[in-house]
Amino acid sequence: MIKRRIKGGRTGTFVSLEGIEGTGKSTQAKLLSEYLSKKGFNTILTEEPGGTVISRQIRRVLLSTRHDKMDYMAELLLYNAARIQHLKEKIIPVINSGKIVITDRFSDSTVAYQGYGRGISLKLIDTLDKIATGGMRPDITILFDLDVEIGLKRNRKINKRDRLELEDIEFHRRVREGYLQLAAMEPERIKLINASKNIDTVHHEIIGIINKFLQGITLNIVPVR
Ligand SMILES: Nc1ncnc2c1ncn2[C@@H]1O[C@H](COP(=O)(O)OP(=O)(O)OP(=O)(O)O)[C@@H](O)[C@H]1O
Ligand SMILES: [Mg+2]
Repeated sequence: MIKRRIKGGRTGTFVSLEGIEGTGKSTQAKLLSEYLSKKGFNTILTEEPGGTVISRQIRRVLLSTRHDKMDYMAELLLYNAARIQHLKEKIIPVINSGKIVITDRFSDSTVAYQGYGRGISLKLIDTLDKIATGGMRPDITILFDLDVEIGLKRNRKINKRDRLELEDIEFHRRVREGYLQLAAMEPERIKLINASKNIDTVHHEIIGIINKFLQGITLNIVPVR
């Protein structure tokens, strides 16, 4: 296992996977986690909303298809509440112990879905994010880009339905556009991949990006004794 020492006492690495529904995030998160573990990295796989008992309870409230009356602002606050708990209880301690955290979604999802998708002010979302995360960002984010219809079709095949997924096609198009804008604004952190390729090809593309990233920080890496 290796430890990376950077400013602020953080030692581990924080990776997030982002993208619209059915792009393959969960499939690839598992493959990446297995790959890094086999390479000897101490790796934890987690997801949002979720990752802790409290956050998973909030996830149930957020994603239930019965909750079609949920107010957009209530939704935004619940995502942030789940994130605070996830960060404090899990992500930060794990990173500080020198491990790699892979999270299936993080703050970029909130900007894309509640900001670009719902139309809530990006400034307000940023203010709430600062309260929830203190501005903490993943070190690297893999953004899965795919035609909206193809993603939704993939999920329908496995009968996956949640409250967000039931939104109309235009909502999902705005979310996709939002993600692409985020990637254009932060090209250093957010790496865009074409999620229409097959599972194995996408996996190899991701490990190429992650290996390059990990090599790039080797100067800051010290072996753990
Ligand atoms: N590259 C791919 N090509 C074809 N099908 C894929 C590919 N990647 C994943 N799938 C399939 O698409 C479905 C959705 O994949 P997955 O659950 O990984 O997506 P997701 O991005 O996590 O979706 P969600 O946002 O809804 O959680 C699964 O049945 C999965 O096996
Ligand atoms: Mg998933």
